[in-house]
This record gives sequence, C-alpha cells and structure tokens, in this order.
Amino acid sequence: MIGHQESPRLRWIVLNSAEAEADEGLDIIQGLQQTPKYLPCRYFYDDRGSQLFENITDLPEYYPTRTEQSILENCALDIARLTGSCELVELGSGSSRKTRILLEAYDRLHNELQYCPIDVSAGILKTTALDLLNCYPRLKLCGLAGTYEQALAQLPPRELENRMLIFLGSTIGNLNQEECDRFLTLIQQALEPGEFFLLGVDLQKDISIIEAAYNDAQGITAAFNLNILNHLNWRFQGNFDLDQFEHWAFYNPIKNQIEMHLRSLTSQTARLDVLNFQVALKEGETIHTEISRKFHLPTLMATLEAKALKPLQTWTDSNAWFGLILCQRQCVGTECP
Ligand code: SAH
Ligand code: AVI
Repeated sequence: MIGHQESPRLRWIVLNSAEAEADEGLDIIQGLQQTPKYLPCRYFYDDRGSQLFENITDLPEYYPTRTEQSILENCALDIARLTGSCELVELGSGSSRKTRILLEAYDRLHNELQYCPIDVSAGILKTTALDLLNCYPRLKLCGLAGTYEQALAQLPPRELENRMLIFLGSTIGNLNQEECDRFLTLIQQALEPGEFFLLGVDLQKDISIIEAAYNDAQGITAAFNLNILNHLNWRFQGNFDLDQFEHWAFYNPIKNQIEMHLRSLTSQTARLDVLNFQVALKEGETIHTEISRKFHLPTLMATLEAKALKPLQTWTDSNAWFGLILCQRQCVGTECP
C-alpha cells in the first residue's frame, strides 16, 4: 500500500501487492485459453473505458443510471437519518455522480463528511476526488486505487465511528454467482456489527427494455465493449485489430443476465508481447467480456440476509425497474453478546 498526501483533506492510496504485480495479466491468459474465450470485465476500465461508461449512462436506452439517481434523490435523506453519521466507502465509484446526492444528504444532517472512493480506474478516481474536494469544503477524502478485493482487505482505519459500504449502479450484476458470494463475504468481513451496506441493483423486467440498453443506436456500448481490446493493446503491448471484431449483446433468460461478447469477423491471431502470449481466433468465434445480472429483489434480500447483511429498508422507482437496499451488518457467532 503506497499512500501520499496532496491536500490536508485528501489521502491517496494505491493498493498494490507484490503478488498482484507478479500475477498481472495471468487472468487474461487463463481467460483467453478457455472455451469459450473470456476476459475479466474490469479490463474495460482504462481512462477511455471509464469515459465511455460515463457516455453510456447518458444514453436514452440506458435506464439504470437515471433510474437509480431518481431513487436516490427520493431517499438519500432517509438513508442519512437511518444510519446516522458515518463514513461512506464506495466500491467501483467511477465519477461518483450519484454519490453526490448522498454526500449532500450527509452534509446536511451530520457534522462530518468522510468519503473513500475505491476504483480500479485510477484516472477517473483522481479527477473525481479533486472535483469533490472543490465542491464540498467540509469533505475529507481517502481515494483507493485498486480492485474490490485489494481494497476490502486493506481499508484504512475508520475516521468516524461508523462505516457504510456502498455499491451502486448494479455493478454487483457484473459478478457471477460464485464471485458475488465471495464478494458478499468480504463485505461482511469489512464491516463491524451495526454498520451498513447500501446496494443498488437492476431488476428483472421486459427483455426488450434490457436488450436495448446494451445495444444502443449510437454504438457507444459497442465502443465500450471493443475498448477492452484497446486497453489490452496499450497495457500489454498487444496488436488486437479492433476492426476485426464486432459487439454482440443479448439477454439470457435462463440465467437472467445480459451477456456481452466480441465476435471475431475473420480468422486471426493476436499477440500480447508483455505477457509473451498469442491467441488464435476462428471466424465467428467469440470472447465473452461481461455478464450483467438482473435481480429478483426478494431472492437477493434473502442472499444478503444469509451473509449477515440484514435488509433494513428497500426503495424502488415507480416501474420497479431498479432497487436500492440498505442493509445492516448483524453479529455472527462469537461477535454476539
Ligand atoms: N458506481 C458508478 C460506476 C459504475 S461502472 C455508477 O454506478 O455509475 C463500474 C466501476 O467499477 C468503474 O468505475 C470501474 O472502473 C470499477 N471497477 C470495475 N471492476 C472493478 C474491480 N474489480 N475493482 C475495483 N473497481 C472496479
Ligand atoms: C457497470 N455495470 C453495472 C454496467 C452494466 O450495465 O452492467 C456496465 C455496462 N456494460 C454495458 N453497458 C454498461
């Protein structure tokens, strides 16, 4: 963990372990050796990928961001009242656009405002952190650049008595069931009994609405999907030719998830020199880049409860397209009085 000071109100921590550095890119090699081929979706997010995601959130077809935003506008003060004063720690914070609604509610109701955004995309994390410091004069901020796993294992000591972990945007839907299970265990371990977890989730709905959100008319989602190869090219000295791939996204009704793939338009070979790795693709062969699960609220609430994260209150929009769940960490085993 490398930390340094840039302003009395800002701490900046780059999370890195020798282990992670040595393993860098191993997940890419493993994924591209699988059948069907696969890439971890966190590689979407270099500076360009983060910007493309921001552009997606403004698309007319992409309902999740504005729907979650409307819910937050209605319930942020309730959340700030229910939790009392607490520091906000956000996983996959990106531009923290919607989080500002929460920051304003906590700023209005409580004396101290402490926020730790965590993101693997260091560029957007830093730009956002500096902007937030300008916007909120009372805010103290600790930015953590790294993955969820790294951050949850090395959270800085609490600055306030209570903590709320936040995971918005239905980013939990980008984890498969097994990853989600491990992730929720890490959330449980990172919280003390009585602390809070706020989770935003995209809910099951008419398939045509969901499919349109991942196949927008302007092709921004296609550019976002293709950018994963661009990211690999610069990070690992690769030569993927983006013109030789096309975006493919569809809803899998059995798994209740959007699946995004890149389909090879020709028979081709690409290299990643830094990883000393070469991959061959047949014409029509696909690389699976992302799942985006759509949830059934009662089932998810039961899953959370089983992880000692008891849902206290849930909010949805008038169409019940998106849900926000405030959970409180329960004591388990020897923690209980
Ligand atoms: N929370 C924001 C952004 C969602 S986009 C919103 O609701 O709009 C997902 C964010 O998670 C991106 O900023 C991306 O860089 C980050 N991210 C993706 N995988 C990650 C990982 N494994 N660890 C940490 N951050 C990750
Ligand atoms: C970040 N995540 C929740 C987005 C989603 O909807 O699954 C990423 C995304 N993929 C395509 N469009 C947006």
